Amino acid sequence: MFIQEILIPVAYLVSAVLFIMGLKQLSHPKTAPRGNQTAAIGMLIAIIATLLYRDVIDYTLIIAGIIIGGAIGAYVARTVEMTAMPQMVAIFNGFGGGASLLVATAEFYRLITGMEAIAGFTMTAIGLSIIIGGITFTGSIVAFAKLQGIMRGAPILFKGQQIVNSILLIGTVTLTVLAVMVGAEAGFYIPAIIVVALILGYMFVIPIGGADMPVVISLLNSFSGIAAAATGFVLLNNALIISGSLVGASGIILTNIMCKGMNRTIWNVLFAGFGGEDYAPGEGVPVTQKPVKSYEPEDTVVIFENARQVVIVPGYGMAVAQAQHMVHELEKILEAKGVKVKYAIHPVAGRMPGHMNVLLAEANVPYDNLFDLDQINPEFEETDIALVIGANDVVNPAARHDTASPIYGMPILDVDRSRTVFVLKRSMNPGFAGIDNELFYNDNTIMLFGDAKDTVTKLVAELK
Ligand code: TAP
Repeated sequence: MFIQEILIPVAYLVSAVLFIMGLKQLSHPKTAPRGNQTAAIGMLIAIIATLLYRDVIDYTLIIAGIIIGGAIGAYVARTVEMTAMPQMVAIFNGFGGGASLLVATAEFYRLITGMEAIAGFTMTAIGLSIIIGGITFTGSIVAFAKLQGIMRGAPILFKGQQIVNSILLIGTVTLTVLAVMVGAEAGFYIPAIIVVALILGYMFVIPIGGADMPVVISLLNSFSGIAAAATGFVLLNNALIISGSLVGASGIILTNIMCKGMNRTIWNVLFAGFGGEDYAPGEGVPVTQKPVKSYEPEDTVVIFENARQVVIVPGYGMAVAQAQHMVHELEKILEAKGVKVKYAIHPVAGRMPGHMNVLLAEANVPYDNLFDLDQINPEFEETDIALVIGANDVVNPAARHDTASPIYGMPILDVDRSRTVFVLKRSMNPGFAGIDNELFYNDNTIMLFGDAKDTVTKLVAELK
């Protein structure tokens, strides 16, 4: 009595408070690791409370599941490369959606085998868990496959695609309405809803370009939360309803932040078939043959020696080259010479939210040296050197004035206003948006071609 009616609800309340505190702490890099721990403790309390339910009759399978799942999760989280983080999140979201689908389905069959009547509300929640969970499962698998290179990243488009998708969506909704109407007689509809939802998830993600996957993953993360909340209504489990709603809401907010950072709408991301694969040096979209100025690292020493302020602008290429530790070395050398060094962080630099913050934190760059777009942009006029390391689209001045550019209107870092701009990249190839960058042809821009880590290592050696 005490356990069922007081201890479990209070434990759920405590875990809900810990989830919310964890989310708050996650909103700043300094407190984010603690936020992770706070939320994990909340989840541990919720799991223990759930295991105390009187309905649990045997712990064998549960403990086996916890050991196997926990071991796989811990191994993957420890060994994943930072650049592979988006696909790891994708696959975890997918499993979350799949779990919601399975639990809701199992609950339906448990109820009908027990000859219990199923209320319209419960049936609606079962239908929603299956639809959203199914879409999340296959959608996330496609997102994972595209990012992992198992599937081609380019959008897969065909004529009448949106009509097919609309028919599938209307089909699942109709089947669910019919299932709700017949309640416990819905044994035929449930497998049909599962199949159509799984197909819909696949069809929903294939037309989206590989480079847009982080936005899709964030959206699917939100879906996995909504599916979990719906399952919470099926089981009447408050912890699941609350945690699912938090994941659902935060996923939507993150999706919105990413779209704003790219100056695109979510509809454009989902339906425009934008962004294909990353380009290797020597391939990709042809670029103009205009002349650019190119230096070797040793030619830059005099300019560095005379600088008072250097702003480092990291981008996706820094992540690919894993140059962050060397960049921090360079920062320390410059600071020892009395140069003020700042980092400019664009909200969508790299391929996932907070990508640059995470990499720089890994290299122990102090948070206080990191400045976001609004803080740093007014400073470029006073900056001697903007050091662009593997960033491209986020520093393309065309976004400010070229109304024909696909990135027109996207907020950018105004590095071109600095006295000298060094751009570190391997070739003249475009970045994610697949467009040429007029910054490279400016009089004050100097290209330092090569792998970002190699170039920064050479700069460090020269400046030492
Ligand atoms: P990008 O515009 O993608 O440019 C990255 C550049 O890095 C490329 O031009 C590439 O040039 C260079 N590069 C790759 N490997 C390198 C290496 N080993 N050494 C040196 N350079 C290397 O990157 P960005 O400026 O960070 O912009 C991010 C883009 O991704 C934006 O368009 C954004 O909208 C999009 N996006 C971001 C997100 C999030 S949430 N961050 C989500 C979806 C889409 P080379 O090949 O010539 O070396």
